[in-house]
Amino acid sequence: MRIFLDTAEVAEIRRYADWGVVDGVTTNPSLVARSGRVFEEVVAEICAIVDGPVSAEVTALDAAGMVAEGRRLAAIHPNVVVKVPLVPEGLKATAALRADGVDVNVTLCFSLPQALLAAKAGATYVSPFVGRLDDLGQDGMALIDEIVTALRAYPALDTQVLVASVRNAEHVRRAALLGADAVTLPPKVLEQLVAHELTRKGLEAFLADWNRRAGAAPDPAAPRGPGAPGGRS
Ligand code: G3P
Repeated sequence: MRIFLDTAEVAEIRRYADWGVVDGVTTNPSLVARSGRVFEEVVAEICAIVDGPVSAEVTALDAAGMVAEGRRLAAIHPNVVVKVPLVPEGLKATAALRADGVDVNVTLCFSLPQALLAAKAGATYVSPFVGRLDDLGQDGMALIDEIVTALRAYPALDTQVLVASVRNAEHVRRAALLGADAVTLPPKVLEQLVAHELTRKGLEAFLADWNRRAGAAPDPAAPRGPGAPGGRS
């Protein structure tokens, strides 16, 4: 399963790219607006940092406008994936951009029928938003199960399932078990994935044992004096 970062903050992307686990990046108009930067510049900088798909979303509402905007975005770098919304004009734009050889991520997917239409239009990726379904009291990951199962039954539809609106490590765990192609994660969720209390405690114990071994130099940070563990009594 590929891991994408869901952010338009270049400094964050640079920091996490160093972990060696980031396969791509997704952005959306809200994230770009939050960065306060010029969209095209941000996309170019991200492409220079991460050697993988970088989703950049169009804001036009009609197919012709989406295609024109999509072509401009795709010209920034060969790794740009044009993101279009899952509406009829977006489906038209998807078919046109794919005919031009441009990769397309169809976003704002909330149902299996919508995902099927995106796949039929030739989408490279479809992005179901699991967190926003959870927000409504539904099970977002059940939708991933449905889409993965249905697309697997029709190998001619080679659209990849990109799990979006990911809020926690449990979403990622279930996405992996379901065989989703990719997840896109806000940096804080990537941080949650690596953290485990037993890893932290285990490392602390290993280092304490190492520092207590025979002949080890005294640890200048260790407490000393009467009453301190290992100190004079
Ligand atoms: O990039 C789309 C996406 O992942 C949105 O997430 O948390 O705003 O629902 P969220």
